[in-house]
Amino acid sequence: MLILICFGAFQFWVSQVVRSYFMDQQIQQIRTQAERIAVEAAPYLSQHNAEGLYSYLKSEANSLGAALLVVNPSGTVLMDAYSQYNGRRLPYLETQAVLSGQQSFAWGMHTLTASTNKTEASGTGLVSMLQRWLTAGSRGEETVVYGAATIMADNAIAGAVVLSISIQSLMDQIENISLQMSLVSLLVAAVAMLFNILVSGALIKPLRSLTESIRLIGQGDFSHRVKVRGRSEMAEMAATFNAVTEKLENLDQSRGEFVSNASHELKTPLASMKILVETMLHEENLDPAMAHEFLGDINSEIDRMSQLISELLALVKQDEADAIYTQEVHISSLAMEVTLKLGKLASEKGIVLETDIARNLYVLGDRMMLEQMITNLVDNAIKYTQEKGHVMVSVHRADTQVQLVVQDNGIGIAQEDITKIFDRFYRVDKARSRHTGGTGLGLSIVKGIVQAHGGSIQVKSQLGEGTSMEVLLPMAPVPSEEAPAQPQESEDLV
Ligand SMILES: Nc1ncnc2c1ncn2[C@@H]1O[C@H](COP(=O)(O)OP(=O)(O)OP(=O)(O)O)[C@@H](O)[C@H]1O
Ligand SMILES: [Mg+2]
Repeated sequence: MLILICFGAFQFWVSQVVRSYFMDQQIQQIRTQAERIAVEAAPYLSQHNAEGLYSYLKSEANSLGAALLVVNPSGTVLMDAYSQYNGRRLPYLETQAVLSGQQSFAWGMHTLTASTNKTEASGTGLVSMLQRWLTAGSRGEETVVYGAATIMADNAIAGAVVLSISIQSLMDQIENISLQMSLVSLLVAAVAMLFNILVSGALIKPLRSLTESIRLIGQGDFSHRVKVRGRSEMAEMAATFNAVTEKLENLDQSRGEFVSNASHELKTPLASMKILVETMLHEENLDPAMAHEFLGDINSEIDRMSQLISELLALVKQDEADAIYTQEVHISSLAMEVTLKLGKLASEKGIVLETDIARNLYVLGDRMMLEQMITNLVDNAIKYTQEKGHVMVSVHRADTQVQLVVQDNGIGIAQEDITKIFDRFYRVDKARSRHTGGTGLGLSIVKGIVQAHGGSIQVKSQLGEGTSMEVLLPMAPVPSEEAPAQPQESEDLV
């Protein structure tokens, strides 16, 4: 709207400037001619040469294409080049102004009606049609300018020359120009408005949608997405926003799952402990052997709970870690230490636990975390291998990496479960895992630790044949000041 008003005002101002410029030019020309004729007509008047004055006026009127009169000092027409007004009084102010001696030249604009030589707008173009329509009310009228100049003879006012020139064609031209300018202004304003609507629409609409999505996210609704259109910066922003929202949604989902799984896992041992304790409380003549067994069960539930809590803490610690590990960890000796620690567990099941560990391999990292990672892998291998099975822990250099493999010939993992075993709380066989005391957090902790160390983990498994977990970690150079430990190679620990 503001654009329209501005364009309207500008167009009006320009048309006024154009009009006054052309009018000034025209009046100046009329003045020059009228004053010249007044000087040239003066001798005819003082000599009372009516014939000479008539032929002079006639030739001037013809050459100028104008009406030309000479009036006497009282305003009566002495001589009309076209002999129409002879003897009539001219009532025009401009004639009176010059005859009274106030001005040597005066002019006025008049509209003559029922003109026979009226020039009308012609042509078939849109502008001409509009012009004809707009000027329809003024048809039959003609705008003329009267210019009057004093004729001086013997230092007295002998009369005045009145020159009347039609400026209708000039007026038509000015009108035409104004109309064209109005149309152009209107067109420019319309284009500007359209552009404004399109640009503001293109900018504001996605911004509104983005604001709405941010508001919804603020209320905890992560399912909302912004529409991505085109390839503009706005579209890029919308795509980034959607990606962030998706991550938030996933995080929110896994946080919810984690909390419900964790509380479920904590409730289960508590519930079984409560049953055991209640039985012991209410059973008056409880057999001491039975009571001992119950206490043993309670003890293992406590162990289970404490393992779960320490695993949960490990996960939290892992989430909070800023992944800056600068400690040089002698992975060869660490793998050996862990294997030795778990040797007893393996021997209880009659499992042969072997190692094939290359000397002097280092990685940059957190020793405690790496120890937990190897422990979880070896613990799984022992846990999910039947009695008298085999577990092999090997550490080797693989190009610029250290390769740690924990291989067993245990129960194996079905293909459809392989991608899920790293999810928090996922256990393939829940009943069996419950029996073996697992919580389903071990491998997710392993994966987190490996990733935090810039490494990767891969599983190869065949159901009923065994599993191989391969971890690759970036190798660190051997520290110069440290004498490397000497791990044993291919040692049978059982
Ligand atoms: N070596 C393996 N052989 C067969 N199945 C395995 C092996 N390692 C892991 N799994 C399967 O993957 C599941 C997830 O392992 P994970 O270590 O995360 O949990 P868990 O051993 O059940 O419990 P915990 O949190 O005590 O380690 C296990 O429940 C088991 O079903
Ligand atoms: Mg485990």
